[in-house]
Amino acid sequence: MSDPSPAAVPAPAPADEPGSSSVRKPRVAVLFGGRSSEHAISCVTAGSVLESIDREKYEVVPIGIAKDGRWVLESGDTDRLAISGPDKLPEVDSSLPVLSIAQDGGAGAMVVHEPGDVPHALGHVDVVFPVLHGPFGEDGTIQGLFEIADVRYVGSGVLASSVGMDKHYMKVVFEAAGLPQLPYAVVTDRQWRTDPAGCRAAVEALGYPVFVKPCRGGSSIGISKVASAAELDDAIEEARRWDPKVVVEASSGDGAREIECGVLESLEDAGPDTSVVAEITVEGDHDFYDFAAKYLPEENTRLDVPAELEDTVAQEVRRLSAVAFEALSCEGLARVDFFLLADGRVVLNEINTMPGFTPTSMFPRMWAATGVPYPELVDRLLQLALRRRTGLR
Ligand SMILES: Nc1ncnc2c1ncn2[C@@H]1O[C@H](COP(=O)(O)OP(=O)(O)O)[C@@H](O)[C@H]1O
Ligand SMILES: [Mg+2]
Repeated sequence: MSDPSPAAVPAPAPADEPGSSSVRKPRVAVLFGGRSSEHAISCVTAGSVLESIDREKYEVVPIGIAKDGRWVLESGDTDRLAISGPDKLPEVDSSLPVLSIAQDGGAGAMVVHEPGDVPHALGHVDVVFPVLHGPFGEDGTIQGLFEIADVRYVGSGVLASSVGMDKHYMKVVFEAAGLPQLPYAVVTDRQWRTDPAGCRAAVEALGYPVFVKPCRGGSSIGISKVASAAELDDAIEEARRWDPKVVVEASSGDGAREIECGVLESLEDAGPDTSVVAEITVEGDHDFYDFAAKYLPEENTRLDVPAELEDTVAQEVRRLSAVAFEALSCEGLARVDFFLLADGRVVLNEINTMPGFTPTSMFPRMWAATGVPYPELVDRLLQLALRRRTGLR
Protein backbone atom coordinates (compact mmCIF):
# COMPACT_ATOMS: atom_id res chain seq x y z
CA MET A 1 0.00 0.00 0.00
CA SER A 2 1.60 3.26 -1.04
CA ASP A 3 1.50 6.39 1.04
CA PRO A 4 -1.65 8.35 0.30
CA SER A 5 -1.07 11.54 -1.65
CA PRO A 6 -2.05 14.80 0.05
CA ALA A 7 -5.82 15.06 0.11
CA ALA A 8 -5.97 18.84 -0.24
CA VAL A 9 -8.07 19.97 -3.20
CA PRO A 10 -7.97 23.22 -5.15
CA ALA A 11 -10.68 25.45 -3.77
CA PRO A 12 -13.46 25.88 -6.33
CA ALA A 13 -14.25 29.36 -4.98
CA PRO A 14 -16.82 28.03 -2.52
CA ALA A 15 -19.85 30.11 -1.62
CA ASP A 16 -18.49 30.86 1.85
CA GLU A 17 -15.12 32.11 0.57
CA PRO A 18 -15.86 34.22 -2.49
CA GLY A 19 -12.95 34.55 -4.89
CA SER A 20 -10.68 32.25 -2.92
CA SER A 21 -7.99 30.56 -4.99
CA SER A 22 -6.03 29.04 -2.12
CA VAL A 23 -5.86 25.33 -1.39
CA ARG A 24 -8.21 24.37 1.40
CA LYS A 25 -9.07 21.20 3.27
CA PRO A 26 -11.67 19.02 1.61
CA ARG A 27 -15.01 19.22 3.40
CA VAL A 28 -16.48 15.83 4.30
CA ALA A 29 -20.14 15.32 5.20
CA VAL A 30 -20.54 12.17 7.31
CA LEU A 31 -24.12 11.03 6.74
CA PHE A 32 -25.62 8.60 9.26
CA GLY A 33 -28.75 7.26 10.92
CA GLY A 34 -31.38 6.72 8.29
CA ARG A 35 -34.78 5.13 7.96
CA SER A 36 -33.70 1.48 7.97
CA SER A 37 -33.69 -0.89 10.95
CA GLU A 38 -29.94 -0.34 11.17
CA HIS A 39 -30.32 3.30 12.35
CA ALA A 40 -28.55 2.79 15.70
CA ILE A 41 -25.67 0.75 14.28
CA SER A 42 -25.15 3.48 11.69
CA CYS A 43 -24.90 6.09 14.50
CA VAL A 44 -22.29 3.96 16.28
CA THR A 45 -20.27 3.59 13.07
CA ALA A 46 -20.51 7.34 12.46
CA GLY A 47 -19.09 7.92 15.94
CA SER A 48 -16.00 5.85 15.05
CA VAL A 49 -15.63 7.44 11.61
CA LEU A 50 -15.94 10.98 13.07
CA GLU A 51 -13.27 10.18 15.66
CA SER A 52 -10.93 8.72 13.05
CA ILE A 53 -11.01 11.38 10.35
CA ASP A 54 -7.80 13.39 10.39
CA ARG A 55 -8.93 16.98 11.13
CA GLU A 56 -5.57 18.29 9.90
CA LYS A 57 -6.50 17.01 6.45
CA TYR A 58 -10.27 17.26 6.36
CA GLU A 59 -13.03 19.53 7.59
CA VAL A 60 -15.97 17.47 8.84
CA VAL A 61 -19.71 18.16 8.79
CA PRO A 62 -21.84 15.55 10.60
CA ILE A 63 -25.29 15.12 9.07
CA GLY A 64 -27.93 12.88 10.63
CA ILE A 65 -30.95 11.31 8.96
CA ALA A 66 -33.65 10.97 11.60
CA LYS A 67 -35.92 7.93 11.71
CA ASP A 68 -38.67 10.04 10.11
CA GLY A 69 -36.36 10.68 7.14
CA ARG A 70 -35.53 14.30 8.06
CA TRP A 71 -31.93 15.41 7.38
CA VAL A 72 -30.46 17.46 10.24
CA LEU A 73 -27.22 19.23 11.06
CA GLU A 74 -25.73 17.13 13.88
CA SER A 75 -23.28 18.25 16.55
CA GLY A 76 -20.82 15.42 15.96
CA ASP A 77 -20.61 14.80 19.70
CA THR A 78 -19.29 11.26 19.48
CA ASP A 79 -20.22 10.40 23.10
CA ARG A 80 -23.85 10.82 22.13
CA LEU A 81 -23.40 8.32 19.30
CA ALA A 82 -22.13 5.47 21.47
CA ILE A 83 -24.32 2.75 22.94
CA SER A 84 -24.61 3.89 26.55
CA GLY A 85 -26.56 0.93 27.93
CA PRO A 86 -28.61 -2.07 26.86
CA ASP A 87 -31.68 0.10 26.21
CA LYS A 88 -29.78 3.25 25.29
CA LEU A 89 -29.27 2.98 21.57
CA PRO A 90 -28.11 6.19 19.87
CA GLU A 91 -30.55 8.03 17.62
CA VAL A 92 -30.44 11.11 15.40
CA ASP A 93 -32.22 14.08 17.04
CA SER A 94 -34.92 15.20 14.59
CA SER A 95 -35.38 18.56 16.38
CA LEU A 96 -32.02 19.89 15.10
CA PRO A 97 -31.86 22.39 12.18
CA VAL A 98 -33.12 20.71 9.01
CA LEU A 99 -31.00 20.34 5.87
CA SER A 100 -32.00 19.95 2.26
CA ILE A 101 -29.85 19.07 -0.72
CA ALA A 102 -30.03 21.39 -3.72
CA GLN A 103 -30.43 19.72 -7.10
CA ASP A 104 -28.85 22.42 -9.20
CA GLY A 105 -25.60 20.47 -9.55
CA GLY A 106 -22.02 21.67 -9.46
CA ALA A 107 -21.85 23.33 -6.10
CA GLY A 108 -22.96 20.35 -4.05
CA ALA A 109 -24.86 22.84 -1.98
CA MET A 110 -26.78 21.87 1.10
CA VAL A 111 -29.27 24.32 2.50
CA VAL A 112 -29.85 24.74 6.24
CA HIS A 113 -33.32 25.66 7.46
CA GLU A 114 -33.19 26.94 11.05
CA PRO A 115 -36.47 27.75 12.75
CA GLY A 116 -37.23 31.49 12.47
CA ASP A 117 -34.30 32.14 10.13
CA VAL A 118 -33.90 32.50 6.37
CA PRO A 119 -32.57 29.30 4.80
CA HIS A 120 -28.82 29.59 4.24
CA ALA A 121 -26.25 27.53 2.34
CA LEU A 122 -24.17 25.10 4.37
CA GLY A 123 -21.35 25.77 1.93
CA HIS A 124 -19.52 23.50 -0.43
CA VAL A 125 -19.31 19.82 0.46
CA ASP A 126 -16.53 18.01 -1.41
CA VAL A 127 -17.51 14.48 -0.49
CA VAL A 128 -20.21 12.63 1.40
CA PHE A 129 -19.43 9.53 3.46
CA PRO A 130 -22.79 7.74 3.68
CA VAL A 131 -22.38 5.49 6.70
CA LEU A 132 -25.75 3.88 6.00
CA HIS A 133 -26.85 0.27 5.68
CA GLY A 134 -29.86 -1.41 4.10
CA PRO A 135 -32.68 0.07 2.02
CA PHE A 136 -32.41 3.84 1.28
CA GLY A 137 -28.71 3.79 2.24
CA GLU A 138 -26.98 0.89 0.59
CA ASP A 139 -29.37 0.11 -2.26
CA GLY A 140 -28.57 2.84 -4.77
CA THR A 141 -31.40 5.19 -3.87
CA ILE A 142 -29.37 7.72 -1.89
CA GLN A 143 -26.50 7.25 -4.34
CA GLY A 144 -28.94 8.42 -7.05
CA LEU A 145 -29.64 11.56 -5.04
CA PHE A 146 -25.91 12.33 -4.85
CA GLU A 147 -25.56 11.75 -8.59
CA ILE A 148 -28.40 14.18 -9.33
CA ALA A 149 -26.84 16.78 -7.04
CA ASP A 150 -23.34 16.20 -8.52
CA VAL A 151 -21.88 15.38 -5.13
CA ARG A 152 -19.00 12.92 -4.76
CA TYR A 153 -19.53 10.11 -2.27
CA VAL A 154 -17.74 7.15 -0.70
CA GLY A 155 -18.53 3.69 -2.02
CA SER A 156 -20.35 2.11 -4.90
CA GLY A 157 -22.55 3.93 -7.37
CA VAL A 158 -26.23 3.39 -8.15
CA LEU A 159 -25.99 0.17 -10.16
CA ALA A 160 -23.51 -1.73 -7.97
CA SER A 161 -25.37 -0.66 -4.83
CA SER A 162 -28.75 -1.82 -6.08
CA VAL A 163 -27.47 -5.08 -7.62
CA GLY A 164 -25.54 -5.78 -4.40
CA MET A 165 -28.74 -5.32 -2.38
CA ASP A 166 -30.81 -7.65 -4.60
CA LYS A 167 -29.90 -11.30 -3.99
CA HIS A 168 -31.56 -12.28 -7.30
CA TYR A 169 -29.72 -9.88 -9.63
CA MET A 170 -26.52 -10.33 -7.67
CA LYS A 171 -26.63 -14.01 -8.63
CA VAL A 172 -27.43 -13.20 -12.27
CA VAL A 173 -24.36 -10.96 -12.50
CA PHE A 174 -22.12 -13.41 -10.62
CA GLU A 175 -23.26 -16.21 -12.92
CA ALA A 176 -22.45 -14.14 -16.00
CA ALA A 177 -18.97 -13.57 -14.56
CA GLY A 178 -18.49 -17.32 -14.15
CA LEU A 179 -18.41 -17.15 -10.35
CA PRO A 180 -19.31 -20.34 -8.44
CA GLN A 181 -22.57 -20.25 -6.46
CA LEU A 182 -25.08 -22.63 -4.90
CA PRO A 183 -28.16 -23.61 -6.97
CA TYR A 184 -31.13 -21.32 -6.35
CA ALA A 185 -34.69 -20.47 -7.37
CA VAL A 186 -36.43 -17.09 -7.40
CA VAL A 187 -40.05 -16.78 -6.26
CA THR A 188 -41.51 -13.51 -7.50
CA ASP A 189 -44.69 -12.02 -6.07
CA ARG A 190 -46.70 -12.90 -9.18
CA GLN A 191 -45.35 -16.45 -9.44
CA TRP A 192 -46.24 -17.12 -5.80
CA ARG A 193 -49.75 -15.71 -6.22
CA THR A 194 -50.52 -17.39 -9.55
CA ASP A 195 -48.48 -20.61 -9.56
CA PRO A 196 -47.48 -21.71 -6.04
CA ALA A 197 -47.26 -25.34 -7.19
CA GLY A 198 -44.70 -24.36 -9.83
CA CYS A 199 -42.72 -22.47 -7.16
CA ARG A 200 -42.76 -25.50 -4.84
CA ALA A 201 -41.58 -27.75 -7.69
CA ALA A 202 -38.69 -25.39 -8.47
CA VAL A 203 -37.62 -25.53 -4.82
CA GLU A 204 -38.03 -29.33 -4.66
CA ALA A 205 -35.50 -29.60 -7.51
CA LEU A 206 -32.88 -27.93 -5.27
CA GLY A 207 -33.20 -30.67 -2.63
CA TYR A 208 -33.83 -30.01 1.07
CA PRO A 209 -32.70 -28.34 3.28
CA VAL A 210 -32.95 -24.94 1.63
CA PHE A 211 -32.52 -21.35 2.80
CA VAL A 212 -35.44 -19.01 2.12
CA LYS A 213 -34.55 -15.31 2.01
CA PRO A 214 -36.18 -11.95 1.33
CA CYS A 215 -34.49 -10.78 -1.85
CA ARG A 216 -33.50 -7.32 -0.66
CA GLY A 217 -32.83 -7.96 3.01
CA GLY A 218 -29.89 -7.93 5.35
CA SER A 219 -28.85 -8.81 8.90
CA SER A 220 -30.39 -12.28 8.33
CA ILE A 221 -33.86 -10.78 8.92
CA GLY A 222 -36.65 -12.91 7.43
CA ILE A 223 -34.31 -15.81 6.56
CA SER A 224 -35.27 -19.39 7.46
CA LYS A 225 -33.62 -22.74 7.07
CA VAL A 226 -36.23 -25.16 5.76
CA ALA A 227 -35.79 -28.89 6.32
CA SER A 228 -38.74 -30.23 4.34
CA ALA A 229 -41.53 -29.36 1.91
CA ALA A 230 -44.00 -29.16 4.81
CA GLU A 231 -42.25 -26.03 6.18
CA LEU A 232 -41.73 -24.27 2.85
CA ASP A 233 -44.92 -22.20 2.56
CA ASP A 234 -44.52 -20.69 6.04
CA ALA A 235 -40.90 -19.77 5.30
CA ILE A 236 -41.87 -18.12 1.99
CA GLU A 237 -44.63 -16.17 3.73
CA GLU A 238 -42.17 -15.06 6.43
CA ALA A 239 -39.67 -13.85 3.79
CA ARG A 240 -42.53 -12.09 1.95
CA ARG A 241 -43.25 -10.02 5.06
CA TRP A 242 -40.00 -8.21 4.23
CA ASP A 243 -39.91 -8.37 0.46
CA PRO A 244 -42.43 -9.63 -2.13
CA LYS A 245 -39.53 -11.20 -4.04
CA VAL A 246 -37.96 -14.26 -2.39
CA VAL A 247 -34.82 -16.27 -3.16
CA VAL A 248 -34.52 -19.94 -2.20
CA GLU A 249 -31.07 -21.51 -2.09
CA ALA A 250 -29.68 -25.01 -1.73
CA SER A 251 -27.85 -25.41 1.56
CA SER A 252 -24.07 -25.24 1.72
CA GLY A 253 -24.35 -28.58 3.55
CA ASP A 254 -22.79 -30.23 6.58
CA GLY A 255 -19.24 -29.21 7.34
CA ALA A 256 -19.35 -26.03 5.26
CA ARG A 257 -17.44 -23.02 6.64
CA GLU A 258 -18.32 -19.29 6.32
CA ILE A 259 -15.48 -17.22 4.95
CA GLU A 260 -15.28 -13.47 4.24
CA CYS A 261 -12.89 -11.18 2.41
CA GLY A 262 -12.56 -7.38 2.25
CA VAL A 263 -12.04 -5.55 -1.03
CA LEU A 264 -10.77 -2.00 -1.52
CA GLU A 265 -10.45 -0.09 -4.74
CA SER A 266 -6.85 0.62 -5.63
CA LEU A 267 -5.34 4.08 -5.22
CA GLU A 268 -3.01 3.25 -8.10
CA ASP A 269 -5.58 2.70 -10.84
CA ALA A 270 -4.87 -1.02 -10.64
CA GLY A 271 -7.29 -3.88 -9.94
CA PRO A 272 -8.85 -4.01 -6.46
CA ASP A 273 -6.85 -4.96 -3.35
CA THR A 274 -8.09 -7.78 -1.17
CA SER A 275 -7.66 -8.34 2.56
CA VAL A 276 -6.67 -11.42 4.48
CA VAL A 277 -9.54 -13.88 4.66
CA ALA A 278 -11.56 -14.39 7.86
CA GLU A 279 -13.90 -17.06 9.18
CA ILE A 280 -17.14 -16.88 11.15
CA THR A 281 -18.05 -19.81 13.32
CA VAL A 282 -21.48 -19.84 14.89
CA GLU A 283 -21.53 -21.88 18.07
CA GLY A 284 -24.24 -22.83 20.53
CA ASP A 285 -27.72 -23.64 19.31
CA HIS A 286 -27.82 -21.41 16.24
CA ASP A 287 -28.62 -23.17 13.00
CA PHE A 288 -26.84 -20.46 11.03
CA TYR A 289 -25.46 -16.91 11.31
CA ASP A 290 -28.83 -15.44 12.26
CA PHE A 291 -29.72 -12.00 13.64
CA ALA A 292 -28.99 -12.92 17.27
CA ALA A 293 -25.64 -14.48 16.41
CA LYS A 294 -24.72 -11.35 14.43
CA TYR A 295 -25.66 -8.65 16.93
CA LEU A 296 -26.31 -9.95 20.44
CA PRO A 297 -23.00 -9.86 22.31
CA GLU A 298 -23.74 -12.77 24.61
CA GLU A 299 -24.26 -15.07 21.66
CA ASN A 300 -21.40 -17.34 20.71
CA THR A 301 -19.98 -16.25 17.43
CA ARG A 302 -16.28 -16.65 16.80
CA LEU A 303 -14.45 -14.47 14.29
CA ASP A 304 -11.03 -15.71 13.21
CA VAL A 305 -8.97 -13.05 11.48
CA PRO A 306 -7.17 -14.42 9.54
CA ALA A 307 -8.93 -17.75 9.04
CA GLU A 308 -6.98 -20.95 9.41
CA LEU A 309 -6.99 -22.04 5.79
CA GLU A 310 -4.63 -23.56 3.29
CA ASP A 311 -2.84 -20.84 1.40
CA THR A 312 -4.23 -21.95 -1.95
CA VAL A 313 -7.81 -21.70 -0.62
CA ALA A 314 -7.23 -18.23 0.86
CA GLN A 315 -5.69 -17.09 -2.44
CA GLU A 316 -8.68 -18.44 -4.37
CA VAL A 317 -11.10 -16.60 -2.05
CA ARG A 318 -9.16 -13.36 -2.60
CA ARG A 319 -9.13 -13.85 -6.36
CA LEU A 320 -12.88 -14.53 -6.50
CA SER A 321 -13.54 -11.49 -4.27
CA ALA A 322 -11.76 -9.21 -6.71
CA VAL A 323 -13.68 -10.76 -9.64
CA ALA A 324 -16.99 -10.25 -7.79
CA PHE A 325 -16.10 -6.61 -7.04
CA GLU A 326 -15.32 -5.96 -10.69
CA ALA A 327 -18.34 -7.95 -11.94
CA LEU A 328 -20.69 -5.46 -10.24
CA SER A 329 -18.45 -2.44 -11.04
CA CYS A 330 -18.16 -1.75 -7.32
CA GLU A 331 -16.32 1.35 -6.15
CA GLY A 332 -14.52 2.07 -2.89
CA LEU A 333 -15.19 -0.95 -0.74
CA ALA A 334 -17.07 -4.22 -0.44
CA ARG A 335 -17.09 -7.36 1.66
CA VAL A 336 -17.53 -10.63 -0.18
CA ASP A 337 -18.95 -13.64 1.71
CA PHE A 338 -18.36 -17.28 0.81
CA PHE A 339 -18.99 -20.84 1.82
CA LEU A 340 -16.10 -23.29 1.81
CA LEU A 341 -17.89 -26.57 1.16
CA ALA A 342 -16.93 -29.86 2.78
CA ASP A 343 -15.61 -31.11 -0.58
CA GLY A 344 -13.19 -28.16 -0.74
CA ARG A 345 -15.11 -26.06 -3.27
CA VAL A 346 -15.40 -22.33 -2.63
CA VAL A 347 -18.77 -20.74 -3.56
CA LEU A 348 -19.98 -17.16 -3.24
CA ASN A 349 -22.80 -16.29 -0.89
CA GLU A 350 -23.12 -12.53 -1.28
CA ILE A 351 -21.45 -9.13 -1.63
CA ASN A 352 -22.08 -6.18 0.71
CA THR A 353 -21.34 -2.74 -0.73
CA MET A 354 -21.46 -0.96 2.65
CA PRO A 355 -20.29 -3.62 5.09
CA GLY A 356 -20.45 -3.23 8.88
CA PHE A 357 -17.90 -0.57 9.70
CA THR A 358 -17.46 -0.23 13.46
CA PRO A 359 -13.86 -0.90 14.56
CA THR A 360 -14.96 -4.36 15.79
CA SER A 361 -16.78 -5.25 12.56
CA MET A 362 -15.32 -7.87 10.27
CA PHE A 363 -14.40 -5.50 7.41
CA PRO A 364 -12.15 -3.12 9.43
CA ARG A 365 -10.70 -6.07 11.35
CA MET A 366 -9.72 -7.86 8.14
CA TRP A 367 -8.04 -4.70 6.85
CA ALA A 368 -6.27 -4.05 10.16
CA ALA A 369 -4.86 -7.59 9.92
CA THR A 370 -3.75 -6.77 6.36
CA GLY A 371 -1.87 -3.68 7.53
CA VAL A 372 -4.48 -0.96 7.01
CA PRO A 373 -5.55 0.40 10.41
CA TYR A 374 -9.00 2.00 10.81
CA PRO A 375 -8.00 5.69 10.37
CA GLU A 376 -6.03 4.83 7.22
CA LEU A 377 -9.01 2.89 5.88
CA VAL A 378 -11.29 5.92 6.38
CA ASP A 379 -8.69 8.17 4.75
CA ARG A 380 -8.29 5.86 1.75
CA LEU A 381 -12.06 5.73 1.17
CA LEU A 382 -12.24 9.53 1.28
CA GLN A 383 -9.33 9.88 -1.13
CA LEU A 384 -10.87 7.40 -3.56
CA ALA A 385 -14.18 9.27 -3.46
CA LEU A 386 -12.55 12.70 -3.84
CA ARG A 387 -10.55 11.72 -6.89
CA ARG A 388 -13.37 10.14 -8.86
CA ARG A 389 -15.43 12.18 -11.25
CA THR A 390 -19.12 12.84 -10.91
CA GLY A 391 -21.51 11.71 -13.62
CA LEU A 392 -20.88 8.64 -15.79
CA ARG A 393 -17.69 6.84 -14.89
N1 LIG B 1 -27.34 -21.48 1.15
C1 LIG B 1 -26.99 -21.43 2.45
N2 LIG B 1 -26.48 -22.52 3.09
C2 LIG B 1 -26.13 -22.46 4.39
N3 LIG B 1 -26.25 -21.36 5.16
C3 LIG B 1 -26.75 -20.25 4.59
C4 LIG B 1 -27.15 -20.24 3.21
N4 LIG B 1 -27.61 -19.00 2.92
C5 LIG B 1 -27.51 -18.29 4.06
N5 LIG B 1 -27.02 -19.03 5.07
C6 LIG B 1 -26.81 -18.57 6.45
O1 LIG B 1 -27.61 -17.43 6.70
C7 LIG B 1 -26.80 -16.29 6.94
C8 LIG B 1 -27.43 -15.05 6.32
O2 LIG B 1 -27.61 -15.24 4.92
P1 LIG B 1 -27.18 -14.12 3.87
O3 LIG B 1 -27.55 -14.62 2.53
O4 LIG B 1 -25.75 -13.78 4.09
O5 LIG B 1 -28.15 -12.92 4.24
P2 LIG B 1 -27.89 -11.44 4.84
O6 LIG B 1 -27.83 -10.55 3.65
O7 LIG B 1 -29.08 -11.19 5.68
O8 LIG B 1 -26.59 -11.47 5.59
C9 LIG B 1 -25.45 -16.65 6.36
O9 LIG B 1 -24.43 -15.90 6.98
C10 LIG B 1 -25.38 -18.14 6.67
O10 LIG B 1 -25.08 -18.38 8.03
MG1 LIG C 1 -24.75 -12.13 4.92
